[in-house]
Amino acid sequence: MWDPALYQRYGDERTRPFTDLLGRVRSDDPQLVVDLGCGPGDQTATLLRRWPAARVVGVDSSPEMIDAAQAHAVPGRLAFVHADARDWQPDDPVDVLVSNATLQWVPDHLDLLPELARLLAPDGWLAFQVPGNFEAPSHTELTALRESPRWRDQLSSGAARAAAAHEPAAYLDALVRLGLTPDVWETTYLHLLRGEDAVLEWTRGTALRPVFAVLDGAAREEFVADYAARLRAAYPRHEFGTLLPFRRIFAVAHRDSGRNPAGTARVP
Ligand SMILES: C[S@@+](CC[C@H](N)C(=O)[O-])C[C@H]1O[C@@H](n2cnc3c(N)ncnc32)[C@H](O)[C@@H]1O
Repeated sequence: MWDPALYQRYGDERTRPFTDLLGRVRSDDPQLVVDLGCGPGDQTATLLRRWPAARVVGVDSSPEMIDAAQAHAVPGRLAFVHADARDWQPDDPVDVLVSNATLQWVPDHLDLLPELARLLAPDGWLAFQVPGNFEAPSHTELTALRESPRWRDQLSSGAARAAAAHEPAAYLDALVRLGLTPDVWETTYLHLLRGEDAVLEWTRGTALRPVFAVLDGAAREEFVADYAARLRAAYPRHEFGTLLPFRRIFAVAHRDSGRNPAGTARVP
């Protein structure tokens, strides 16, 4: 279950990769733009300003997120649909298909890329971003705690699935094999977080969600206290705040009709 309010607490930090991703999509006049895993819909709504003539559809499998997103709906221009990214089918070919911070929650999502590419119009663009920080202490400490003798029976991998992503080269390879022109890169943002236990607060809206789906009450409090202590050691609080380095992986792929407006080299 997703909590839209909790997720949006760090809206500025979470919006930046979306903006950077869209900065490499060179579609001038798309008719249909889709945001797969649109979350609370605030970022989806910005696509209307970028492409004023486009019809925009946001898709998400969380009823809570879609409920929150409906506040941004604009009849005839921007609609939100409750559906799983793995099953959803558009009515028309998609000119721009965006998926920001979502595919890491879809198991075996490399296998989904051919399906997503199939939805693209000629000259269409696929753009996605996933976290690349699964080796960071925020994740490794969480895994170590989940697998510790105290918690492993309740939080074994089957009981609470964690998110996962691939290295940039794996995405580039998959996109080239689909006949698309790829533009893949990574960025590490240095987020400066305020307040006590800032990294713990950051993870409440994302990485801790699968744990919270299994634990509640006193057990949840005990788990959070243990995790908070580990995070305090890994991410010391300075007088200016707590630094959270956050690596993210970006992939933009163009179905090239010959014009190649991205200016990227075509990989054979
Ligand atoms: C981290 S949020 C990202 C939301 C938004 N794109 C953003 O950048 O703020 C991940 C979103 O993916 C959605 N999601 C996860 N698995 C999904 C799936 N299989 N199909 C559709 N949406 C999914 C979740 O419900 C959640 O809203």
